[in-house]
Amino acid sequence: MAYTGTGTGTGTPVLATTKQVKLDKESELRIEVANDTPLRLRVLSGTAEIFGSELAPEIWLTFPPRLKFAVFSWFGATIEMDGATETDYTADETPMVSYVNVHAVLDGRRNRAKASPSTDPNASQGPRVIVVGPTDSGKSTLSKMLLSWAAKQGWKPTYVDLDIGQGSITIPGSIAATPIEMPIDPLEGIPLEMPLVYFYGHTTPSQNVDLYKVLVKELAQVLERQIAGNAESRAAGMVINTMGWIEGVGYELLLHAIDTFNANVVLVLGQEKLFSMLRDVLKNKPNVDVVKLQKSGGVVSRSAKVRQKTRSYRIREYFYGIGNDLSPHSSIANFSDLSIFRVGGGPQAPKSALPIGADRVADPLRLAPVEINRDMLHLVLAVSYAQEPDQILSSNVAGFIYVTDIDMQRRKLTYLSPAAGALPSKYLIVGSLTWTET
Ligand SMILES: Nc1ncnc2c1ncn2[C@@H]1O[C@H](COP(=O)(O)OP(=O)(O)OP(=O)(O)O)[C@@H](O)[C@H]1O
Ligand SMILES: [Mg+2]
Repeated sequence: MAYTGTGTGTGTPVLATTKQVKLDKESELRIEVANDTPLRLRVLSGTAEIFGSELAPEIWLTFPPRLKFAVFSWFGATIEMDGATETDYTADETPMVSYVNVHAVLDGRRNRAKASPSTDPNASQGPRVIVVGPTDSGKSTLSKMLLSWAAKQGWKPTYVDLDIGQGSITIPGSIAATPIEMPIDPLEGIPLEMPLVYFYGHTTPSQNVDLYKVLVKELAQVLERQIAGNAESRAAGMVINTMGWIEGVGYELLLHAIDTFNANVVLVLGQEKLFSMLRDVLKNKPNVDVVKLQKSGGVVSRSAKVRQKTRSYRIREYFYGIGNDLSPHSSIANFSDLSIFRVGGGPQAPKSALPIGADRVADPLRLAPVEINRDMLHLVLAVSYAQEPDQILSSNVAGFIYVTDIDMQRRKLTYLSPAAGALPSKYLIVGSLTWTET
């Protein structure tokens, strides 16, 4: 949609793009910001929220191009918009009441957990919610809402993101967890103060299912230890966001995640079949509730190309900030100062070295040192906290670097990193994650 401009007679169009929208109670304004211009928006009267995070009255907020979101009002509001949108319409049929009802149940459980003696590990554990469903069913959005509503009430739930395809805590190719202490800002996203991050290195789990499972397990174990000593975080519980891959191995990975995190509330969005499969398989676990929830009609489907673009923006945001407000540092390292590893794949053992009858499959968890070469240009590498190579699989990562130049003659590698100074470790992990600066 173009600007609705009116001519002035001088050939310069005046951009008359401000409009007001009245929202009835329990209805929402669904917006897709235009492709190349931002949109300003504010609440003129009443109260409204974006995915669980309440908007301050009258303050203009600027939403970047292409963002898709909804402004929801529980009691009615008037919204003012300034700028072009791809689409904007109001909807009064939303599943928000059912979502907030789930929140109320979770809140009750948190209160019960808080009131229980911390010596009772079961009773003092708040809800561990896992959100599952097909792609584009609103999983990430529902996770955000549940976290924001909980934070608004003073809880500090842990957000666990197992989706390596999109990455809402850090860059794609990673799984991560972080406590949520404030409602999630619709523009700033999740504050990146010390999230616990594990690097898988690829954007699809099928690339190395064993590695994915190992990292999920590591993340769960570390959280378990942290939460054991923190009654507040234990009572607040977790919200676990998952991938939209729910068939075959994807389904197996969902069961693995439910089991590994001891999830006790499974929210199934928008698919009857998945709901009944999970309900059947979990019916002998009486402490696990499987709940079916309707998908919102506002959820926007994204093509593979759009997903690829979103991934690329996420990586850009990591280095340059959401509003382009960070400046990454360019540094040069000698090849000899870095020690780069790849997990899985790599050269296979020669048949002659194997016992008779054994298959020549590569060990998916094999750690192989990687020689630096020109092919590493444009790769995104993770900086491991490992002290020794054999700790790489079980170590979380400090952050990421982006390879911008490789000088084979001088044996030097140039990279971008979000912070200046020496890397926290010389152990780097490489996968298949690449990025092209745009
Ligand atoms: N009610 C709504 N109105 C407008 N847009 C919405 C609404 N709910 C979700 N969206 C948008 O739809 C898109 C898809 O939603 P979301 O990311 O939550 O789906 P998902 O199930 O997590 O997808 P994936 O499988 O890719 O992880 C997002 O851009 C989100 O902002
Ligand atoms: Mg998602």
